Amino acid sequence: MAIDPTSPVPKYSQLRDLLLDWIVETGLSVDDPIPSERELGQGYGLSRMTVRQTIDLMVSEGKLYRVPGKGTFLARPKIEMSLALASFTEDMRARGYRPGAQDLVRRVLPASGSTARAMGLAPETPVHHIERLRTADGEPMAVERSNIPVDLAPGLDRHSLAGRSLYAVLEQEYGIILDSGEQTIEAGVCDPADAKLLGLPQGSPVLSMRRRSFANGRCVEMATSRYRADRYTLHSRLDPRR
Ligand code: GLP
Repeated sequence: MAIDPTSPVPKYSQLRDLLLDWIVETGLSVDDPIPSERELGQGYGLSRMTVRQTIDLMVSEGKLYRVPGKGTFLARPKIEMSLALASFTEDMRARGYRPGAQDLVRRVLPASGSTARAMGLAPETPVHHIERLRTADGEPMAVERSNIPVDLAPGLDRHSLAGRSLYAVLEQEYGIILDSGEQTIEAGVCDPADAKLLGLPQGSPVLSMRRRSFANGRCVEMATSRYRADRYTLHSRLDPRR
């Protein structure tokens, strides 16, 4: 296939599709290099600027990554985010990754107005505020900030969550089995603090999630999480219309 100069589809976008086909046809493996910008420009009769536009796009989509001075390589496929009431640990294990957690902040705080409202608590009810960096195979994936009412899990601040599943601790130590939840996901960008934790340039895209999880009708956790958009994708099954 070649670039069609008469097509209404911009050339950089045509090249993206051609490269995606080429990656499949050649059976390119993760971390294998793709041809240089010069080779691609010559091969497809395109300017370096157009080729760079395509590569920039594919890098921002998480399909390719650049190593300065070395070239451009095929990135790992993105991880599909579960849309179930699963824990990060369960989710990563199910996908063949080794889950991890690094404790960043553990504090008991009075719930802020918005947290209290969202959790159905009286203003300033004490909550465990937990901030963790979540990793998969040792690589930073998400920053998660959870709030859990202290009366539901007294002493939770004494349990280390480094490398441990919060949901497993809630279940094993407090007999709390989450039975329902709701989640909102929206596009966002990394603030400087999260960018540093995730090892990404400031302003990188993230998937911002807000989850409320319940047990027996009571809100157990209200969490906000920022997942790397270059490593995560959302997939959901679509049921027929009723
Ligand atoms: C998901 C949710 C978080 C929750 C976490 C628990 O990532 N988005 O709200 O805190 O799972 O995961 P784990 O039990 O592995 O600590």
